[in-house]
Amino acid sequence: MNLFDVYPINPINIVRGQGSLVYDNHDTEYLDMYGGHAVISIGHTHPHYVKRLEDQLHKLGFYSNSIEIPIQKELAQKLGKVSGKEDYQLFLCNSGAEANENALKLASFYNGKKKVIAFSKSFHGRTSLAVAVTDNPKIVAPINETDNVIFLPWADEAALEEAFKNNEISSVIIEGIQGVGGIQVAPEGFLQKTRSLCDQYNAVFIADSVQCGYGRTGKFFSHDFAGVDADIYSMAKGMGNGFPVGGIIISPKIQPAYGMLGTTFGGNHLACAAGLAVLETIEQDNLLQNAAEIGGYLIKELNKLEQVKEVRGRGLMIGIELPEELAHARKELLNKHHIFTGEAKPNVIRLLPALNLTKAHADRFLEAFVNVLNQ
Ligand SMILES: Cc1ncc(COP(=O)(O)O)c(C=O)c1O
Repeated sequence: MNLFDVYPINPINIVRGQGSLVYDNHDTEYLDMYGGHAVISIGHTHPHYVKRLEDQLHKLGFYSNSIEIPIQKELAQKLGKVSGKEDYQLFLCNSGAEANENALKLASFYNGKKKVIAFSKSFHGRTSLAVAVTDNPKIVAPINETDNVIFLPWADEAALEEAFKNNEISSVIIEGIQGVGGIQVAPEGFLQKTRSLCDQYNAVFIADSVQCGYGRTGKFFSHDFAGVDADIYSMAKGMGNGFPVGGIIISPKIQPAYGMLGTTFGGNHLACAAGLAVLETIEQDNLLQNAAEIGGYLIKELNKLEQVKEVRGRGLMIGIELPEELAHARKELLNKHHIFTGEAKPNVIRLLPALNLTKAHADRFLEAFVNVLNQ
């Protein structure tokens, strides 16, 4: 049997990793400034993570949501504490798309409305509702098409106000920093406007934090920079440091009912152990502060490079926009300097490394990047 060939891949076989370094089957070392697509939050094979998963695996890997699972409550407590959203409620699932799917559905259950506002260049996942609110017609199949989604231009307050006027809006879904869209930071005023319109029209504010959340920007949720609380935050990627776990946290104003949401695998014992290991490490090692400091340092240094068109982002979620003639830079970083980075079209290099990236590794990236720019 062949694999279903949907990924354009680099011919590299990574077989092991430690911290921000990974190694291929020839033992060549690579610097991981991509975090396996913003997933590796506390570094590859972090000892506390390995131990917590190993210990849990020896006890119990899985049992269904039909029984008490105290480790879920432990995870909810810790998440409340680290994120500062202590009065929110946690629903666990397995991926970012699924988190958004549940968020959009829950919003509609809550207010009985159907229409969703999403934004140009948004990416929210590939399942039916998640892809319907994603602004990329190429990945929307005919069966996913719906009249329930209204796409608005990014950060256009007047358009937002206008779209609310007929009072049909169930929810607004917005990334605090667009990731796939090229690292575009949502203006604080726009997030505040979204909050006040959602309040005025009884709509649900969904903060997609799958990529920009979990401490990546130096605050737990990037929407926190605007000083507003969303009604639902969706999370995945960094939440399990590679173990597939996602979730939504839900404001106390939205009440649960049996059967409203559900999942077989979501919140299983192993996933919760992974999630706890991540939060404990974020807390113990002060990783929000590290993300802010090392990210701030990278942004400052990158801004000094005159070949760079624009540097965007916050903390360790950074977009470097390059002119067309430097479109080869990302490949050169990988092939010549053995540094993984992410991309966004057109010509944006995305940096999404582990939150415990060291200054030495940041400098190693900067040195290689300057070298690539000056060739
Ligand atoms: C902002 C955002 N939302 C949702 C998703 C979908 O997450 P997943 O691939 O885990 O379904 C992604 C994935 O890149 C994302 O960046």
